[in-house]
Amino acid sequence: MLNPSYPIETPRLLLRPFTMDDLDELHSFHSRPDVARYLYWEARTRDETRTALEAKTRQAALSEENDTLSIAVELRETGALIGDLYLFWRSREHRQGEIGFAFHPAHHGRGYATEASGELLRLGFADLGLHRIYARCDSRNTASSRVMERLGMRREAHLVENEIFKGEWSDELVYGMLRREWTATA
Ligand SMILES: CC(C)(COP(=O)(O)OP(=O)(O)OC[C@H]1O[C@@H](n2cnc3c(N)ncnc32)[C@H](O)[C@@H]1OP(=O)(O)O)[C@@H](O)C(=O)NCCC(=O)NCCS
Repeated sequence: MLNPSYPIETPRLLLRPFTMDDLDELHSFHSRPDVARYLYWEARTRDETRTALEAKTRQAALSEENDTLSIAVELRETGALIGDLYLFWRSREHRQGEIGFAFHPAHHGRGYATEASGELLRLGFADLGLHRIYARCDSRNTASSRVMERLGMRREAHLVENEIFKGEWSDELVYGMLRREWTATA
């Protein structure tokens, strides 16, 4: 069970639940092919973004295994919505979770994804009591793997051609972190 007290503040960011008022700003990056390149969906139409956002507005807390926590990332300075974060509760018995993130390209290269994802680790380890958190990405998605490395996650696996991704065989990287490793870095 995880019911974060929002908003969560970091030095430059504010993390909060999604509302339907986020549609325009969320669509401004969910509609981009470069953002969707290594995600399991294609650049979204406005209707597709609306459907995704409707789901996100119901994902502000985790109550059961297999639930997803969806968090909007705002830039404190301007109030702009610049990214979205996920924490998937993969197993209650094994205390496992998975994180993911996507940010608007206008806000890449400033460390915002790393700053925001650090809070996902804190929510997963400190608040939900997870034992291990992992993250996966296409091996060509170096921006994503660099975020995981900056977070202090270990590269656990390089799976070779484990899936057909957007029409071609692709490799997947798995990064992991244990609660005791997080405690040591936090
Ligand atoms: C994955 C993604 C969020 C990474 O974004 P990013 O901007 O590279 O990551 P950060 O916000 O952590 O920024 C890190 C970069 O900012 C730089 N930076 C600048 N100021 C910084 C600061 N104060 N703190 C940390 N890094 C800083 C870092 O050096 C780094 O640059 P580098 O990668 O060239 O070394 C982004 O590429 C994205 O949204 N992609 C599309 C969706 C996607 O693929 N998601 C992942 C699916 S697995």
